[in-house]
Formats: sequence, structure tokens, C-alpha cells
Amino acid sequence: MLWLVTVSLLLFSSHTLCTNPGLKVRVTQKALDYGRQVGVQVLQQRLKALHIPDISGTVHVRMIGRIKYAVMGIRIDNFGLPQSTIGFYAGTGIKLSINNANIRISGKWRVRCHFMKHHGSFVIMVSGLSISEAIGMTRDETGRPAVHSAGCTASIGNIIIKFSGRLRKLYNLLAHLLKGSIRSSLIRQICPKVSGAINGLEEHLRNMKVVSHVDKYAVIDYSLVNPIEITDAFMGLDFKGEFYSVVKREEPPFKPPPVLLPDQTDHMMYLGLSDFFVNSAGFAYYRAGALNMNITDDMIPKHSPIRLNTSTFGAVIHQVEKLYPNMLMLMSFQANQQPVLKVAPNNITIQASGDINTFAILPNSSLAPLFVLGISASVSAQVTISEMKLIGSLKLNRLLLSLKHSDVGSFQVNILQSILNFAVKIVVLPKINERLANGFPLPRVDHLSFVNPLIKVNQDVLVIATDIRYSS
Ligand SMILES: *[C@@H]1O[C@H](CO)[C@@H](O)[C@H](O)[C@H]1NC(C)=O
Ligand SMILES: *[C@@H]1O[C@H](CO)[C@@H](O)[C@H](O)[C@H]1NC(C)=O
Ligand SMILES: *[C@@H]1O[C@H](CO)[C@@H](O)[C@H](O)[C@H]1NC(C)=O
Ligand SMILES: *[C@@H]1O[C@H](CO)[C@@H](O)[C@H](O)[C@H]1NC(C)=O
Repeated sequence: MLWLVTVSLLLFSSHTLCTNPGLKVRVTQKALDYGRQVGVQVLQQRLKALHIPDISGTVHVRMIGRIKYAVMGIRIDNFGLPQSTIGFYAGTGIKLSINNANIRISGKWRVRCHFMKHHGSFVIMVSGLSISEAIGMTRDETGRPAVHSAGCTASIGNIIIKFSGRLRKLYNLLAHLLKGSIRSSLIRQICPKVSGAINGLEEHLRNMKVVSHVDKYAVIDYSLVNPIEITDAFMGLDFKGEFYSVVKREEPPFKPPPVLLPDQTDHMMYLGLSDFFVNSAGFAYYRAGALNMNITDDMIPKHSPIRLNTSTFGAVIHQVEKLYPNMLMLMSFQANQQPVLKVAPNNITIQASGDINTFAILPNSSLAPLFVLGISASVSAQVTISEMKLIGSLKLNRLLLSLKHSDVGSFQVNILQSILNFAVKIVVLPKINERLANGFPLPRVDHLSFVNPLIKVNQDVLVIATDIRYSS
């Protein structure tokens, strides 16, 4: 009976926890090796700040009597971390091991008894120090990746003390007291310092925005949709990667597909953006009304012979000029569904469709409807990355027109083909490209940036392979 409950719980949880992400990120060992260099430096700084308290007291020594001693001004001159390894710790996070670390400590001593007073200095070499730290990685309640210390051990090999000053007899006594004190101070403080460094890392992560603002129409939700996956070879993060209209948080009528990343390890990070990411953008912008656009003559370059006026259109549809001579026109585009993006190897295409309401602008500025065109455009997209943003640029492949309604008599719609091609290429796409050039923010962590990102367009997914750099 119990096994049945267990099995159904397992099945249930694997169902609820496995949502397809819009953005899948894989972090490789190469990133850890880079992180180790940065991390060890940070750790070294923190460990150098360990505090070893003064010690003082009184002892009775045979033949001498009561002696008061004090050891003070103890400081760490150097904390050497020559050997460290870092690796994934399956199911938990990351494991950092430091071996053969050494510390040079110096300080002063003083002893006093009824017949004499002495003082001097000493140097302590601590060797064979090992620290092992497990860094746990989880998804916090806001859906952001979080780190915590998931276990730390520290051990010390050897402690050697060299005194300077004249009073050999007392050295053994002081050495014994010092060794014990140094050992316990170090053991007590090392792990908390390491945890402190991890808390510092957590503070960076805490600034990570789960919701990225894009523009006045849309935001992107980058919360984690699944627990962080940690195997021996990589760490996998499933981000929602979904655009929402700022007006209303509404799910699109399609679902994210599974995202497959290549089994490569030569870059520090692989990001897989599914077509869902961009299609949710199309849906959000469509719902926000951001895909509607008015085209007027003043948007057409000055030198162009084709104008958005009734004499240009009148040349092909005589009624237009006859009814509304010498007037400017307005073309009002409205999307009638969200644009659909398809990602195929080396080929990103977007299919968009809508209606164009065409008007003559009367001398008193009111609009006289002329005709309504149905328009369906296929554009291809180029994608680049700059400053942690995804930047797109569109090029027209094909435009299909249909006449939906006319107030100026019937006409063959293909006579408008070249004017519309012109309008889309010269007015519409440059405007959209201008907006796309602002880019869509990718999830970012303070102080981390991409180095030489490469984009590959695979089936249904855009794969970004990149190294990362930390700069403080
Ligand atoms: C386009 O112009 C019409 C008429 O002036 C107006 O009602 C509409 O809101 C405009 N649309 C956009 C997207 O500016
Ligand atoms: C309309 O365009 C033609 C060029 O095609 C230009 O000569 C004419 O002045 C324009 N008319 C208006 C009202 O802008
Ligand atoms: C790109 O994909 C579209 C449809 O998704 C297809 O019509 C077009 O022929 C493809 N182009 C190339 C160069 O493969
Ligand atoms: C603008 O002029 C047209 C025709 O000249 C007329 O039918 C329309 O009522 C006028 N509109 C306004 C707001 O004056």
C-alpha cells in the first residue's frame, strides 16, 4: 500500500514540476573553473581578515613560580590557497575543495614574573589546511536561483612556531598555549568566513530581476519553472522565458515545447531560447495593441517619388483621385492575430497578418475610407546579441494582398503590390527594426557579462554558446 502512495506521489511531483521552459540554460565545468579563479581570490581576501584574539593568563612553573604571559597583535600575514578544485555536486550544487592551504601568522609575546620581564615576537606557519565547502543551489520562493552554504568542513595539518627573543625555557609553554588557541580560532572561524563569501554571492543573485522590463508594452518573466538540475557534469536552469503584456498577464494559446541543448562543453554557458519565447512576445505585443501602426506620408523619405497621396494611388485606382483629388492618405495597419515565428536550422521566419484600412485625409482632417486590404507578410529574422540583450532585425520575404472591402469600386489588388512592398520595406520594417534594435534583455546577474556569444539556429530553438566574465 505504502509503495503505491510513494509511486503516485513521485509521478505526481514529476508532472507538476516539469514545465517546459522558454529559456533553458546549461552551465558547464568550464564556467566553474573560471568561477574558481574569481572565487578563490574573494575567499582569500575574506580569510585574511580572520581575527585571532590575544591570549593572556598566569601559570605556575616549577622552580620559577607564577608567570604572567600575554600573546598579542596576532595577525595573518598571508593566506595561501595553492590548490583548489571545484565541481558539480549532483543533486545539491557545487563543491569547492581547497587543499594544502597555508597561513603565515605573526605576533608578539610578553612574560613577566617576580624576577624578570621579557618580550619578543613569533611567526607561525600553519600548513596542510583543507577546506571543503558544498554550495547548495535552489530556486527561492520568488523563482530566482539562490545559493546557500550546504556544509563546510575545515581541518588543519601542522602548526610550527618560531620565536625570537631570549627565554627558551618558556617557549614550549607558550608554543603549547598558542597552538591550541590558533587551531581553535581557525577552525571556529574558517567555515563561517566561507559561508560569508557565499552570502556575498547570494546578494549578487538577489539583485537578479525575475521580471525584466522591456518597454512600455511588455515584460519578460525569467523565474525558474523547475528546480535547478545538477548532475556531475553540468547545472541546468529552466527559466520561464515568457513575455507578458504590461496591461494584462495573460497566457498565450500555445505552450512551450521541450528545449534541447547540444551536448557540448567547450563554452561556459549554453542558452536555448525556444520559439515560444519570441511567440509569447508576439502575443504580448499583439494583445497590447503594439503591433498596430499608422503610416502617413511624412514617414516616407523625402526623396521618394512614391507618396502616400491620392495622386500616387490615383495612377492605379482612378476613382481615388477622382473622388479625393490632391489629398494625403493614411494607412492604418492592425494585426488580426499574433505573428507566428518558426525556427528551423539557420532560418527564422515570422508570419504576420492583418488589415490595412486606407483613408483619404480630407482638408478638414477627417478621414474618408477608401478600401481595406488584407495583408499577410513573411519576413525573415536575423538575431544577434549585444550587452546581454537579444537583438533582432527583419527582412521582407513576401507580401500577399487581398481586397477585403472597397469604397472606391472594385479593382485588381495586385496593382497595389509594388506600392505596398515599398511601404513595408521603406517605412514599416525600418520602424520595427528600430524597436528591435533596443533588444530584449536576457536574464542577468550583477557583474557577469557574456564574452563572444555565438548564436546557432537549430530546429525550434536558438542556441547561444558563450563564455562569461566577472567584473567588479
Ligand atoms: C491611427 O489613426 C487612427 C485615426 O486617426 C487612430 O484612431 C488610431 O488610434 C491610430 N493608431 C495608431 C496605432 O496610432
Ligand atoms: C502627391 O504626390 C505627387 C508625387 O507622386 C506630388 O507631385 C504631389 O504634390 C503630392 N500631393 C500632395 C497633396 O502631397
Ligand atoms: C525558411 O523557413 C520557411 C518556413 O518556415 C520556408 O518557407 C523557407 O523556404 C525557409 N528558407 C530557407 C532558406 O530554408
Ligand atoms: C469634413 O468635410 C466633409 C466633406 O467636406 C464633411 O462631410 C464632414 O462632415 C467634415 N467633418 C468635420 C468634422 O467637419
